[in-house]
Amino acid sequence: KEGKLWGGRFEESVTDAVERFSESVSFDKQLYKHDIMGSRAHASMLAQQGLITISDRDTILKGLDEIEKKIEAGEFDWRADREDVHMNIEAALTDMIGEPAKKLHTARSRNDQVVTDLRLWCRDAIDRILARIRQLQVALVRLAVKNEGLIVPGYTHLQRAQPVLLQHLLLSYVEQMERDAGRFADCYVRLNFCPLGACALAGTGLPIDRFMTSSALGFTAPMRNRASYNSIDAVSDRDFVLEFLSANSIAAIHLSRLGEEWVLWASEEFGFLTPSDSVSTGSSIMPQKKNPDPMELVRGKSARVVGNLVTLLVLCKGLPQAYNRDLQEDKEPLFDSVKTIMGMLEVTSEFAQNITFNRERIQRALPAGHLDATTLADYLVKKGVPFRTSHDIVGRSVALCISNNCQLMELSLDKLKGVSPAFEDDVFEFLGAENSIKKFCSYGSTGSDCVAEQLEMWVSKLGID
Ligand code: ARG
Repeated sequence: KEGKLWGGRFEESVTDAVERFSESVSFDKQLYKHDIMGSRAHASMLAQQGLITISDRDTILKGLDEIEKKIEAGEFDWRADREDVHMNIEAALTDMIGEPAKKLHTARSRNDQVVTDLRLWCRDAIDRILARIRQLQVALVRLAVKNEGLIVPGYTHLQRAQPVLLQHLLLSYVEQMERDAGRFADCYVRLNFCPLGACALAGTGLPIDRFMTSSALGFTAPMRNRASYNSIDAVSDRDFVLEFLSANSIAAIHLSRLGEEWVLWASEEFGFLTPSDSVSTGSSIMPQKKNPDPMELVRGKSARVVGNLVTLLVLCKGLPQAYNRDLQEDKEPLFDSVKTIMGMLEVTSEFAQNITFNRERIQRALPAGHLDATTLADYLVKKGVPFRTSHDIVGRSVALCISNNCQLMELSLDKLKGVSPAFEDDVFEFLGAENSIKKFCSYGSTGSDCVAEQLEMWVSKLGID
């Protein structure tokens, strides 16, 4: 058996079970790119500070290039007995170049190394997620552009509420996603500080230059908070992962809500939208079935993303300060959440590109549920009736409709006047979903002009032609 890199004080080797139980290379190997980036910056800094020679540095850099190529070609021998990505790369480098490799870990601990790798990885992940959020926003805005003028029933409590433009509804999701993007961007700014050089926890007595490694790796600065900089915090902190997973969770919940709405709308009972066959699946027993599975899975997979956040919260809650091996458990939930949200965003965009809203069916559904009742109450307000009174008058008018099985617009002026003398013959301009929509004029409302303005803003912001 090969001796461990940390094996000096040990007389026995670890048991196979402990080795299998504690390895992380099977999943943390996906940090390899960032681990090598960090090592390049660290070796260059060590040479600049005279801690290793220029020629050692060059040998190390060449060796790291080789190793990166080997990993990318799938030719690297990942070994569980070498524990994690960090020691696999360091040990392979030692196999390859000998003595100089043994100097690479000068003034570095795996504790600052792993958290540096993780921050670098999160930066890339955030960039990838932001690009996918943009794609989905574009898909939703295109869908809105395609469905101009279509009025749908708006729901609260899943009960018919007021008429809204479909465009208005679609853009509400686009706005939510814009805040999601903002949360990821904020998270990026806060995590973009460099822990490298904090070493195990206390820093080092060797003359390193943390500013050099930080800037070589594209960080804002060595890890600090406003006025303070603390090496113990630098290796302890995983709140950047918590924050990232929180942003992931909120975004996943938004996608889940959209998924729920579209699943509902695709049902026979609603029938408001039809997904194309390319984004639907069938049943193994019921030959007639066509199910909107992708959006059900978007809803379902949000559970894992939230679960991963909870895992991280619980993981961190009992830890004393500085590095504890428990922290190795931060990676799988993090990787899983990013992979999951990326898939959710991609599939939701594809779904959005492959649905048709059923105009006729939606139009036939509009008369039910007295969507124009609130517009009618506003009409009476314009006639000088106090709102509470007008609410009551319209409520009684609706009751009349219910007992006559008709809509508000089907009541005669006489009948309406029977409920309140405030109704006049212009009342019919306020009744029906189409008339009702025309009356909305408040900032952010579903009125056609207002929605057109919102749409124009998104079309130009997202560069849609
Ligand atoms: N594989 C470890 C992790 O993922 C790296 C740090 C281990 N440090 C240590 N002293 N055992 O967190």
